[in-house]
Amino acid sequence: MPNRSPAKALLRPTATLLLGSVVLAACGQKTPQTTLNPASESTRAIYNLSELLFWLGVVVFLIVQTWLIVSIIKYRQKDSSQIPTQIHGNTKVEIAWTIVPAIIAIVIFVFTFDTIRKIEFMPDEAAGNTLNVKVIGHQWWWEFQYPDIKDASGKPLVTANELWIPSGSYIDVKMTSVDVIHDFWIPGLAGKRDVMPNRESGLWFKADDVADGSPAVFWGQCAEYCGGQHAYMKMRVVVASPADFQKWSSEQSQVAVNTTLPESFTKNCIGCHVVRGTNAAGITGPDLTHFGGRMTIAAGTTDNTREHLYAWLDDPDAVKRGNIMTTAIKADTLTEAEITELVDYLESLNPGTSVKGQQ
Ligand code: CUA
Repeated sequence: MPNRSPAKALLRPTATLLLGSVVLAACGQKTPQTTLNPASESTRAIYNLSELLFWLGVVVFLIVQTWLIVSIIKYRQKDSSQIPTQIHGNTKVEIAWTIVPAIIAIVIFVFTFDTIRKIEFMPDEAAGNTLNVKVIGHQWWWEFQYPDIKDASGKPLVTANELWIPSGSYIDVKMTSVDVIHDFWIPGLAGKRDVMPNRESGLWFKADDVADGSPAVFWGQCAEYCGGQHAYMKMRVVVASPADFQKWSSEQSQVAVNTTLPESFTKNCIGCHVVRGTNAAGITGPDLTHFGGRMTIAAGTTDNTREHLYAWLDDPDAVKRGNIMTTAIKADTLTEAEITELVDYLESLNPGTSVKGQQ
């Protein structure tokens, strides 16, 4: 080893750290799934805990690194022909490095326990101000049911991949899966929770208030590896003011705004999809009743535009590999005219209240 000065020895790690910080900061430009912008009581509690842990870590890091640098400079063996003095054991130091971390661990435990208590149990004030939502995980999309909001036939309102909720209400989420284990996660609004077949899990959250006419959109994501398209099992959560939510939910509990199914839909789609008010009553695919007003297609994979929908129907596998659509509609099965007819029909299914185009 060349005999480098301590300052030179520190140059490379310091430069790496600085450069790394710059690169990481650049990554923060568009991060819709960040946990650093909490917008609910639960995520604020989690954020406050992580901030405490971060600053505790910074303090420990600074003390240890300062100590290390001082030791390297001050106690360096100046005469390299000599072996440094060998020492073994130091009772005072050993007691200190046992007690100090134990105190830190106890502090972390107390604050973590308090945070878990806060986010786990719905407060008493939630009574009378709760909206129940049922989440059903599918490979690879999300089904949302509103047991409290019924359509004309008495069935609960159903949507796919886009969950609207009223701000200021306690959202009581119960979840299950029809196939494998998924994980429900909206980083801005709630912590993660596993979504399991044959079992019901749950969590709650209360989104911060938003103004009338200014719904806030949050990105969500399956957070448990569930097969090839796990990364494309996304969702959007729209937090609307109570009045806007009321408008949206009353529209959504109606039948489709266009109940004249085109022939291509009857031929290819009704086996899997529901369009309320028509004879399309399949059960394996997302409910398409109000598809035209949704922000995205293919579970958040891409924006809901005519071009994207055309591409999706033309070759589903090219947009999202391995989905059931791929086997149901093989590439090139539909003619251009049929695809255009389907795009026209699906995009017409927009009841009005929508955040389409907002990201
Ligand atoms: Cu569902 Cu990962």
